[in-house]
Amino acid sequence: MNSEQILKEIATEVSSCTMCELHHSRKFAVPGEGPENSDIMFIGEGPGFHENEQGRPFVGAAGKFLEELLAKIGLSREEVFITNLVKCRPPGNRDPRPEEVKICTKTYLDRQIQAINPKVIVTLGRFSMNLLIPNAKISNVHGQPVQIKGRLVVPMYHPAAALHQGSLRPVIENDFSQLPRLIAERDSISQPQGDELKDEQEPKQLSLF
Ligand code: URA
Repeated sequence: MNSEQILKEIATEVSSCTMCELHHSRKFAVPGEGPENSDIMFIGEGPGFHENEQGRPFVGAAGKFLEELLAKIGLSREEVFITNLVKCRPPGNRDPRPEEVKICTKTYLDRQIQAINPKVIVTLGRFSMNLLIPNAKISNVHGQPVQIKGRLVVPMYHPAAALHQGSLRPVIENDFSQLPRLIAERDSISQPQGDELKDEQEPKQLSLF
C-alpha cells in the first residue's frame, strides 16, 4: 500500500472508530487532511464545534487564523497536512483525557506520521507538544525546534490561544515566520534547546517514529 492508500485507510477507520468514549458524542470524526507527501505536518489538539460538524480539521476561527499564518509564509492549507491529537471532539471542548490521547495517537496519529514521513512536525498547543516533548512548558519552548529521530519538531502556541490572548498573536506570528528558515536548516539542528526538552525525551516518543 502506498502512503495515500494508508492515509485513506486510516481515515476510514477513524470515521467509524469506537475505541474511546469520544465517539458517543461526535457528529463526524476528523481524521485530518493534506497531501500524503507533505513536508510539514501540523498537529492540533482535537476537533472543536465546527470541525465536528464538518469532519474537517481547523475550519473554525482558529483555522482561519492558521490559514493566515500559513499565507504569511507563502503556504496554503492544501500544501500541508493538518490533523489533531484526538480525532473526535471532546464534549464541550474539554481537554482530551490521557487515555483518549493514548488510544487515539497509538492507533491513528503514529501511523499518519509514519505514512507521511514529514520533515517537520509543528505541534499546536501544549497537548500535542507534550506528546512529543514530555514535560516541556510551552511558554519556555515555543518556536524552538527539537530534532527527534531525524525529524524537526517545532512546538507552537495554539492559534486559538492567540485569538483569546492578544499578546500571544505577535509571538505565534514570529514563531511561524521562522518556519521556512528552520525547514531549510533542519539538518544542522541536532540538540534540544531547552532544559525541559531533555528529560525523558527518547523513551516516550519511540512509538511515534
Ligand atoms: N482546534 C484544534 O486543536 N483542532 C482543530 O481541528 C480545531 C481547533
